[in-house]
Amino acid sequence: MNHKNEIPNLIEEFQSENLSDYFKNIAEKFENKIVFSTSFGLEDQVITHLIFSNNIPIKVFTLDTGRLFPETYAVWNRTRDIYKKNIEVYTPQTNDLESLITKKGPFSFYESIDNRKECCVIRKVEPLTRALQGNDCWITGIRKEQSANRNSMNQFEWDAQYQLIKFHPLFNWSTQEIKEFISKNNIPYNTLFDKGYTSIGCQPCTRAVKSGEDERSGRWWWEDNFKKECGLHIS
Ligand code: ADX
Ligand code: SF4
Repeated sequence: MNHKNEIPNLIEEFQSENLSDYFKNIAEKFENKIVFSTSFGLEDQVITHLIFSNNIPIKVFTLDTGRLFPETYAVWNRTRDIYKKNIEVYTPQTNDLESLITKKGPFSFYESIDNRKECCVIRKVEPLTRALQGNDCWITGIRKEQSANRNSMNQFEWDAQYQLIKFHPLFNWSTQEIKEFISKNNIPYNTLFDKGYTSIGCQPCTRAVKSGEDERSGRWWWEDNFKKECGLHIS
C-alpha cells in the first residue's frame, strides 16, 4: 500500500514535545515497516538514544562503506555496549567493490564527480536500497540547518525513489539543542565532533571545517558547484 496520502495527517499529528512517545505511536502505525538509518552523527545519536532506551520497535541500521573513520567505528561499538542493542549493518556487494578498486584504485573518487558518484552508489546507495526494501517509513537525522539544500527539504517527505515516507524528526532542531540534549543525557558521540568535524562521512571524503563555514562544507571539499549530497538523499 502506498502511504503518500498520509503525509498531511502525519504533519498535523506530529508532536515535538515528547519525541519518544511520538516514536512509539509512529512505530505502531508503521508496524515492522519503519527503519532508522544512522551514520553515528550527533543527530543520529539522539534518535538512537530515544529508540533504544525506550525499547521502541524501529529497526536501526547503518551502511558500513568500509571507509569510515576509526572514531566512527568506536562510537558504534560504544553505542552497542551502552544500550545492549544490535545495529543492523549493510555492506557493499563484494563483487562490485572488487571490480571498482581493481579497475580504478582506492582513490578514484578524487578524479571526477562521476567516479565519486560511482563509489557512493556502490558503497552507500546499493546497500541503502536493500536496507529500505519492504519498508514504509524511513527515519533520518537530517536537519534544515545543515545546508541551504537541506533547508528546502520538509520534515515529512514522499520518497518517490524508494516509495516510502521519509521522516526527519529533528528537522527543526538547532546544533546547540542537539549538543545540549547529548550532554544532558550522557549520550555517546563521535569524538571527531570536538575536533572541528561538523558532518562526518567516509574518512577520505571528510575534513574538519573552520568556524563560520557551512556544516557540510567539509564533505567532498574538492568539489565545487555541487549540492554536497552523495545520493542517499537525492530523489
Ligand atoms: S550524507 O548523505 O551526506 O552522507 P549525512 O552524513 O549528512 O548524509 O547524514 C544525514 C543522514 O543520512 C543521517 O542522519 C543518516 O540518517 C543518513 N546516513 C548518512 N550516512 C549514513 C550511513 N553511512 N549509514 C546509515 N545512514 C546514513
Ligand atoms: Fe566513496 Fe567517498 Fe562516497 Fe564514501 S563518501 S562512498 S569513500 S566517494
